[in-house]
Amino acid sequence: MSNGSKQPVILLENVEKVYKTKAGPLRVLKGVNLEINEGEFVAVVGPSGSGKSTLINMITGIDRPTSGEVHVAGQRLTNMGENAIAKWRGANVGVVFQFFQLLPTLTVLENVMMPMHYVGSYKGQRRERAMELLELVDLPDVANKYPSQISGGQQQRAAIARALANNPKVLVGDEPTGNLDMVSAGIMFALFEDLVSQGTTIVMVTHDRDLAGQIPRVEEVRDGQIVPHEEVDERLVARSVE
Ligand SMILES: Nc1ncnc2c1ncn2[C@@H]1O[C@H](COP(=O)(O)OP(=O)(O)OP(=O)(O)O)[C@@H](O)[C@H]1O
Ligand SMILES: [Mg+2]
Repeated sequence: MSNGSKQPVILLENVEKVYKTKAGPLRVLKGVNLEINEGEFVAVVGPSGSGKSTLINMITGIDRPTSGEVHVAGQRLTNMGENAIAKWRGANVGVVFQFFQLLPTLTVLENVMMPMHYVGSYKGQRRERAMELLELVDLPDVANKYPSQISGGQQQRAAIARALANNPKVLVGDEPTGNLDMVSAGIMFALFEDLVSQGTTIVMVTHDRDLAGQIPRVEEVRDGQIVPHEEVDERLVARSVE
C-alpha cells in the first residue's frame, strides 16, 4: 500500500470461463488478462456473443471463472464465498445493467436507498443521499413512484443512481445507456466523466460506436479474448478527429 507501487484496481489473470451446456462444454473466456488502474474509464466493445457480459460478471463477482485469478478493489474474489462477495460488492462496486434492475415493490427512492441499508452506510441521511443521487441523474420528480410507473429510460437512470448509492470505487455497466435517448445518454456520460475525474474507475460495455469513441480506453472482446489495441475493429469505435 505505502510502498508507492500502484496496484491496479481491476486485475484479471488468465481468466477462463467454460459453461456446461447440453451440447457439451462451451469455452466462453479463453485466457483473459486485463489490468485497469484507478480512475480509468474503459469501454468494452465486441460482437454479440463474444463474451463481454461474461467478462463483466467476472469483475463484479456475479459469476466466477473456471480458472484464473480476479482481483478487484483490493480483494481477491476467487476464494470468496457468495455472501462475502455480495457484501463486498455492495460496498465497493456499482453495477448497472440494460434491463431488469429495480425492485418492483419499492419506490424509486427506496430502490436507491436499498444498497445503503445492505452495507450499513449513510445512516441517518439515507433519504437525503438518495434524493441527491436522483437529482444527479435528472430524476427529481419520480422519487415516490414505482418502477412500473416510469419509463424504461427513467428506470435505467434510477438504476444508475442506485449503483452510486455507496459511492463505489468501481462502476461497472453492461450497456448502461442502452435504453436512453441521446440527451439522457449525454447527461449520463457527463456524470460518468465527472466520477472518473474524482477517481472512480468505470468499465462499461457499449454497442454504441460514438459513445465508445469518447471513452479514453477501449478493449475489444473477440471470441473470448481481448484483442491487442492495434487490432481493435474500427467499425466498433468512432474516434472523432480534432
Ligand atoms: N449461463 C450461461 N450458460 C451457458 N452459456 C452461456 C451462459 N452465459 C453466456 N453463455 C454463452 O456465452 C457466450 C458469450 O455470452 P455473453 O453474454 O458474454 O456475450 P456478449 O458479448 O455479452 O453478447 P451481447 O453483445 O449479445 O450481449 C454466448 O455464446 C452465450 O450463449
Ligand atoms: Mg452482453
